[in-house]
Amino acid sequence: MTANRAIGWGMETLPRIVRGEGSYLYDADGRRYLDGSGGPAAFSIGHGNREVNAAITEQLEKVACGYRYLFTSEPLEELTSLLRERCGAEFGHIVYSCSGSEAVESAMKVALQYWDARGLRTKKRFIERERSYHGNTLGALSVTGFLERRRPFEGSLLDVSFVSAANTYRPLAGLAASELTVALADELDARIKALGSEHVAAFIFEPVVGAAGGVVPAPPGYAKAVRAVCDRHNVLVIADEVMCGSGRCGTWRALEHDGILPDIMAVGKGLAGGYIPLAATILRKELGETIVSEQGAILTGHTYSGHTTACAAGLAVQRIIERESLVSHVRIRGEALRSDLRAALNRFEEIGDVRGRGYLIGIEFVRDRATKEPFPAERAVSRAIGRRALEDGLICYPCAGHVGGVAGDTIIVAPPYNTREAELSELIEKLAGAVERTLAAG
Ligand SMILES: Cc1ncc(COP(=O)(O)O)c(C=O)c1O
Repeated sequence: MTANRAIGWGMETLPRIVRGEGSYLYDADGRRYLDGSGGPAAFSIGHGNREVNAAITEQLEKVACGYRYLFTSEPLEELTSLLRERCGAEFGHIVYSCSGSEAVESAMKVALQYWDARGLRTKKRFIERERSYHGNTLGALSVTGFLERRRPFEGSLLDVSFVSAANTYRPLAGLAASELTVALADELDARIKALGSEHVAAFIFEPVVGAAGGVVPAPPGYAKAVRAVCDRHNVLVIADEVMCGSGRCGTWRALEHDGILPDIMAVGKGLAGGYIPLAATILRKELGETIVSEQGAILTGHTYSGHTTACAAGLAVQRIIERESLVSHVRIRGEALRSDLRAALNRFEEIGDVRGRGYLIGIEFVRDRATKEPFPAERAVSRAIGRRALEDGLICYPCAGHVGGVAGDTIIVAPPYNTREAELSELIEKLAGAVERTLAAG
């Protein structure tokens, strides 16, 4: 049985899901799908985990939710101290929410409130990068460089300022990685000066770009360089780690890899691994303390912020990740997975790049490997690969539009952290098959 609902990427109907177990999902027709991308890089420990389900059920039997202005709770407190431990002693206040978009929205509001609390009331503007995605609410969409998703809302979005993407495969002015970092930092520096640092609240970026770029880790030294520029100009750094954080890139904070601390960080997706919607905005101590001492409270959050059962789910997921050392596993196995994918796909001339960090891997397809010319958007190559993979029982994450806003095809591979070896082999084999059939179809 299939649900009769059309979707955008070429499937006439969506299969109806009935069950999940480990790395596999099952539909109502009995078809099995290997989840090679954790859905949208969200399902960090696979599906149907009994320990997580038991933690959720146990919490529901006690109380589903203690409203945040009336009660605290054990799951909320324990998750908060676990996250502080993961993030480091420099971080303090945590604002919970239900989606990555809300976590980014809260990060932006915290930045604005912090400057307001400091009496620097003209610092209102955000700088962000082209080819980035930060969410679908109006604020988060305003700082998103994803043209297709912005277009219908232009005119109602915040007045923000875009700087270049940090992409070594498609670098600004064709620069080499070593020169690129300096050029991008200079560009940010010049932009802050042009806007006037007294007007700039924060610079927001994804340490490893997700869907908007098809997985793009910044060049070495980039994060340190932009941190230094922002420090020089008294501008906050917001790290959007909704997709790349919570262990997905092989460190709990994605920016650990780059050796810097952001002022504010947004996490979501892998935090509770999809068992219940949960996201968080995590602040450096000084920010939370300044806001609270000057203005009494952080003015963001929602009815279900810190939802008790969502926190119980997040806590259970994070404890499994910790107990099974999944973050270091992802770091080590991720490198090998990248080279296995490269080896399996390299025979196709249309593979332009295989890149990423940990279990966040992007495979970029090009019409011409030498010139990196993308396929015409109308060919919808990544969607076609995604559709063929799905037909063959593999879920991957097709992305398009990172070249000039419309062209550009990538497939994201982002399996659950505890995917078994045999499942990773199945993933590679099925993906190679879908690529082969798509390219052969022309
Ligand atoms: C980097 C990044 N930020 C924010 C979001 C928005 O998260 P959500 O879809 O949970 O609102 C996403 C979602 O894909 C994301 O990848």
